[in-house]
Amino acid sequence: MTSLPARRLPLKTLAAAAVAALVGAFAAPPIALAQETLKIGVILPMTGQSASTGKQIDAAIKLWMAQTGGKAGGRKVEVIVKDDAGVADTTRRLAQELVVNDKVVALAGFGLTPLALATAPIATQSKTPMVVMAAATSAITEASPFIVRSSFTLPQAAVAMGEWAPKNGIKKVVTLVADYGPGNDAEKWFADRMLLNGGQVIDKLRTPLRSPDFAPVLQKVRDAKPDALFVFLPSGQGAQFMKQFGERGLDKAGIRLIATGDVTDDDQLNDMGDVALGVVNSHHYSAAHPSAMNKKFVADFQAMNKFRPNFMAVGGYDGMRVIFKGLEGSKGAGGEALLAAMKGQVFESPRGPVLIDAQTRDIVQDIYIRKVERRDGQLWNVEFATIPQLKDPGKSK
Ligand code: PHB
Repeated sequence: MTSLPARRLPLKTLAAAAVAALVGAFAAPPIALAQETLKIGVILPMTGQSASTGKQIDAAIKLWMAQTGGKAGGRKVEVIVKDDAGVADTTRRLAQELVVNDKVVALAGFGLTPLALATAPIATQSKTPMVVMAAATSAITEASPFIVRSSFTLPQAAVAMGEWAPKNGIKKVVTLVADYGPGNDAEKWFADRMLLNGGQVIDKLRTPLRSPDFAPVLQKVRDAKPDALFVFLPSGQGAQFMKQFGERGLDKAGIRLIATGDVTDDDQLNDMGDVALGVVNSHHYSAAHPSAMNKKFVADFQAMNKFRPNFMAVGGYDGMRVIFKGLEGSKGAGGEALLAAMKGQVFESPRGPVLIDAQTRDIVQDIYIRKVERRDGQLWNVEFATIPQLKDPGKSK
């Protein structure tokens, strides 16, 4: 209608059009628009070093879509998955395209901290809610008021081990972390909590995020002879590390291994072999979590995939829940309305009870102390203690 020369239209039609345009600008979209499919833009590392994170989250999203019929509050939802190969410049470009060209109501995914941080300004500028399903550096949620997190934070996992270790006879520890955001968080929060409980960190070692070589650091650990080595490595690196830990005989030398659950990752755990047995670690999700909801989640997931869900999968699954319930609450609107409807959600996840803290937009959840055990011929992270409803310690600095 706007492309016709104005003088050919009767005055009444023009007035009606002007009113409609004004109403359209400030009120709900016209009926035709209200029925349009809502799009969610998911950016994941489907290739490259962190491809297992993409594989896990993508599978969990497909399960969520199958279980809900892809409908949120009666509206059809379409998920557009893009592969950033773990490269931040690509994540940023893809996010821009998803917002501008596809007009997504939410961005989601983000397999590594730098990828989430690169996208934060786009979420802020376009007022697009951004659900971080994987990345876990504490400060991420502070990078944009539009970020909501469904994964976890490294301070949550690390304080749990820093508390458990000295209370269980482990007094002298060397730490080993991947040298970037979540590794720095793990190192700091583990050490602080160890000290508080009478323990000691005698050396702090780091390996590069890309293509790490564990041989030199493992030699240093052997020489330092600590009671235990505490490790954080991002999902995907655990198996290689565990192999070298065993090959260098550290387990036989009486050095215990303790870790965040990223290392004894359910995606790889079953292939790690005996060296993983007995490793005590802390995390928010185990495929062996003994709730009815988790048993169903694992069974449904394994009916669709040849692998078991790990903590990345549960972050993706719960992130979809947060978006879908948000869209129900906002009646399909995006922006501030969707963000508001995401804040404060309380629900049962396959991991246990969770809350999206309305103030911090971060997840509050139970953290479990687990031990790797063989059951029915398979390796599992078996939970034996719980720190209930832990807020991100990194937020209370
Ligand atoms: C991160 O980059 O924030 C990250 C990636 C994988 C993990 C944990 C944290 O397992």
